Amino acid sequence: MTGLATRAAAGVAGWGSALPTQVVTNADLQRRLDTDDDWITTRTGIKERRIAVDGETTGPLAVRAARDALHAAGLEATDIDLVVVATCTAEVPMPSTAALVAAELGTTAGGFDLDAACAGFGYALATTASLLSTGIARRALLIGADTMSRVVDPDDRATAVLFGDGAAALVLTDPSIVNLPSAQVGERGDRSVGGRSGAATPLPGLISADLVIDGAGVDLLRIPAGGSRLPTSAATLAAGGQFIQMEGRELFRRAVREVVDSVERTLGRAGVSAADVSWFAPHQANARIVDAVVARTGIAADRTLGNGDRYGNTSAASIPLALAEAAAAGRLHDGDLILVSGFGAGLSVGTVLWRWGRS
Ligand SMILES: CC(C)(COP(=O)(O)OP(=O)(O)OC[C@H]1O[C@@H](n2cnc3c(N)ncnc32)[C@H](O)[C@@H]1OP(=O)(O)O)[C@@H](O)C(=O)NCCC(=O)NCCS
Repeated sequence: MTGLATRAAAGVAGWGSALPTQVVTNADLQRRLDTDDDWITTRTGIKERRIAVDGETTGPLAVRAARDALHAAGLEATDIDLVVVATCTAEVPMPSTAALVAAELGTTAGGFDLDAACAGFGYALATTASLLSTGIARRALLIGADTMSRVVDPDDRATAVLFGDGAAALVLTDPSIVNLPSAQVGERGDRSVGGRSGAATPLPGLISADLVIDGAGVDLLRIPAGGSRLPTSAATLAAGGQFIQMEGRELFRRAVREVVDSVERTLGRAGVSAADVSWFAPHQANARIVDAVVARTGIAADRTLGNGDRYGNTSAASIPLALAEAAAAGRLHDGDLILVSGFGAGLSVGTVLWRWGRS
């Protein structure tokens, strides 16, 4: 698969992750909710999840993951010029979590939050790669971070068993500047720097993508209060409007269909088949959704990365957590074709075909 054109070049310089220390097992939930391990495992594949205590919420988790990734990349925070945080559970409504992360790390990098709910990582990956490939940014921290436990009603068995908290980060760089010391990264570099001239070695980065919203599913997963339509008040709190409301069965049905279609469009745009995919990193909402997508698309099950059994649905963090774990285990190699696909409230779907390559 060396002939595929890279549309938005970006190399992976480092990765990192951060998880709350508190493990909540299905047995723990069974002690306080009308549920049991068998129901949760059979319906979702989830065995345990991490739940944040104070001080482990979206901002601090994102900072920890970012520091980990910077360390792995051998870079300082001041080498970074863009911070993108995919999240739907920002640390505070304002400023952005990206601003909090940049301030904590001590960089003047630009940054913003990107909210596509559980589909956030695919959207943020496509966005970050585009900013790198146009030279608007040179070295970016791409973070997926969510603290879903704070927007889930702990007494609602239908949702409380599904979600968990976590964060993961990638340092993505313009491959043309990777071998230059920071001080020399002034103007946009020559793409042949570092021996990565396109003809011989295909550049790492985005090959194709598919970003869609199935608006017919817009009400299937929502938090009704706390925004401009219905600001938080005593009445909204009394009604539980700050918590996720979900129509699970219909969401399941639509998610499978939408993700299958999105994966097929993404592969079709690149002109590759499911058999060409080196690793598939689907959003970890439910093992049965992943199984159905794998079965229908023909992607190999043993090439599918996952962590839902250990972390539950960590929203925008689930895919980068899987990538960071696989990279740390040495499973991802330069040139591998990585397919990521996330879905979530909206119903938003974000799929990216990525050529993995260290920088
Ligand atoms: C949530 C989900 C696991 C539920 O599975 P399901 O087979 O559709 O189950 P249903 O919602 O139809 O509920 C079946 C029964 O189990 C009950 N139930 C729900 N949660 C339960 C729990 N934690 N423990 C035990 N029983 C539970 C329901 O009340 C219902 O009981 P009833 O038949 O007496 O009314 C499944 O619909 C799903 O995964 N949907 C997608 C959710 C998702 O991906 N969300 C995030 C998107 S990013």
